[in-house]
Amino acid sequence: MTKPKVIVTRKWPAQVEAELLKEFEVELNQSDQPMTAAELKAALGRCEAFCPTVSDSINADVLAAEPLRAKIIGSYGVGFNHIDLDAAKARGLVVTNTPEVLTDCTADLAMTLMLMVARRAGEGERHVRNGQWTGWRPTHMLGTKITGKVLGLIGFGRIARATAHKAHHGFGMKIIFNDPFPPPAEVLRETQAEARPTVEDVLREADFVSLHCPGGKETHHLLNQARLQLMKSGAFLINTARGDVVDPAALVEALRKGVIAGAGLDVYEGEPRVPADLVGMENVVLLPHLGSASTETRVAMGMRVLENLRLYFAGKEPRDRVA
Ligand code: DGY
Repeated sequence: MTKPKVIVTRKWPAQVEAELLKEFEVELNQSDQPMTAAELKAALGRCEAFCPTVSDSINADVLAAEPLRAKIIGSYGVGFNHIDLDAAKARGLVVTNTPEVLTDCTADLAMTLMLMVARRAGEGERHVRNGQWTGWRPTHMLGTKITGKVLGLIGFGRIARATAHKAHHGFGMKIIFNDPFPPPAEVLRETQAEARPTVEDVLREADFVSLHCPGGKETHHLLNQARLQLMKSGAFLINTARGDVVDPAALVEALRKGVIAGAGLDVYEGEPRVPADLVGMENVVLLPHLGSASTETRVAMGMRVLENLRLYFAGKEPRDRVA
C-alpha cells in the first residue's frame, strides 16, 4: 500500500522525524531554512499532509494552491492564527494543532519572564558579564518582589491556568483574570482565581499583567496606548501569547515615560524583528519565542502532529481538529 506523503516545513526534533519516516513518505527540511510563500504553496500540491509551524504564514493566497493535493494541515504548535482557517475550510482541508503538551512549558516561561524582569535578572547578567560589578552593597540593583503580588491574566485558558497554579501555589500570588468564556467554579477554586468583568479592571488592579489570549483580528493591539495607561506605574507586562496583541509603539512609549515599570516579552509583532527601542531598554527582558522550547515539549508536540495524521489517515477524527 502506498504511504501518504507528508511535507514538513521546518526541522523537527530527530526523534519525531524518525517516527514520521517509519509511517509516511516524508519530505523533511534538513536545512531548516524558512520556505517562501511560493514554496509553501507548491508544497500543498505535492503531498497529502502538509505540516507547517507557527512561523509559516498559511494565508489565503498560499491556500489557493492549484493543483491542491493536500487533505490535512497538521500544524506544529498550539496557536493557529498563522493559518487562514476560513480559506482552509473553503478548500476542504482539515486543520489540526498541538494543544496541552506545551502548557506547562509555556507557563514556566511566563514565570521566568516575571521573575527576570521584576528582579532585574537580564540587567544583572549584563552587568556581571560587562565587568561592571564592584561588589555587594545595600542599594545595588534593587528589584521588585513577586511573592504575594497580584497577577492579572488576560485570557484564562490552559496556559493561563497553569501560570496561575505556579504563581499562586509557588509564590502566593493573588490571581485575577478576564476571559469572555470563564471556566467552571471548581477550576477557579484551585487557585482562588477571581474573575473581573473587563480587561480594564484587570489592568487597574494587577502588579503583573500576563497575556494569554489567542492572536488574530479580535485581539490585535488589545494592549494599546489607552489600556497601557490604566496599568499601575509599578506594574510589569508579560507576553508569551502573540506579539500582535500589544501595540509595540504604545508599549515603547509606556516604558519610556514610566507609565509601567517594565516588560517581559517572548513574542513580537512581525517577529523575528524586535523594535530597536526595546532592545535599548534595561527594564525589558527579551526572549526569542521560547515558550515551548524544551526538548521534552518539542518532541511531544511533534508526536501530537503524528497522532493527528495517524488518526486522519485511519479514517478517524483527528484529536486536535481546529477546522
Ligand atoms: C505555539 O505553539 O503556538 C507557540 O507559540 C510555539 O510553541
